Amino acid sequence: MRSLFTVSIVCILVSPALAAEGNVARGRQAYRACAACHSLAPDRNMTGPSLAGLWGRKAGSLAGFERYSPALKTADVVWNEASLDPWLADPAHMIPGNRMTFPGIKEAGVRADLIAFLKDATVPGRTAAEPPAASRGGMMGGGPVPNLRRLEPAQRVQAITYCRDTYRVTTADGQTHEIWERNLRFKTDSGGDGPERNAPAILDAGMMGDRASVIFAVPEEISAWIKPGC
Ligand code: HEC
Repeated sequence: MRSLFTVSIVCILVSPALAAEGNVARGRQAYRACAACHSLAPDRNMTGPSLAGLWGRKAGSLAGFERYSPALKTADVVWNEASLDPWLADPAHMIPGNRMTFPGIKEAGVRADLIAFLKDATVPGRTAAEPPAASRGGMMGGGPVPNLRRLEPAQRVQAITYCRDTYRVTTADGQTHEIWERNLRFKTDSGGDGPERNAPAILDAGMMGDRASVIFAVPEEISAWIKPGC
């Protein structure tokens, strides 16, 4: 009796099946490495496709995502525990030519935690609170994209003029920002986090505070808003 008991304890301690059982709370932390590019909300696509409803989905098949690589679209892969493990370990090795610029997670335990979290958080109908993205530092920024429907006056663009090599961007707090033309980017966001029509937003970009982006609802607004004038 006693030796049987000992044997079963040893089995539990060394069982690889149990070791691979991931921890959802730890996995939520690991997911911060993904959150800059992926949302868990249905049809909310960012750099990468929404991961909502991922389990059992064929790779490269989310109808609303326009930017899949041919490699991912033609991969004969269905997403589940077994396929996500090698994908998260080394995406470029599993599906060569895919466009997910992510080096992979070497630690099997971290992958198991992340997969346990994803399995739980991607169930249809689940409205998981998205964990904040890990800051990736440098110019890439990090963190979830801010919603541009709710703007501070300092972010609300009222006028843009262009003179020689300089844009002057006036915001609703009365400030005018003078920005060298190579340091100002014009972007669009037509999605639910983008600005209202004709209500472009200015956001700081970069580490030095010398660069910024102006984000419009649609591309037609860009030229219409920029008035020549010195
Ligand atoms: C730098 C941005 C970026 C990061 C970080 C990133 N991904 Fe991706 N991911 C993408 C892109 C882009 C694609 C589409 C790749 C393609 O089409 O080749 C993708 C595709 C995927 C897919 C396939 C989805 C489908 O519909 O077939 C899964 C699953 C996935 N990523 C999970 C993750 C997880 C989990 C993490 C965090 C460990 C992560 N990704 C980190 C950008 C990213």
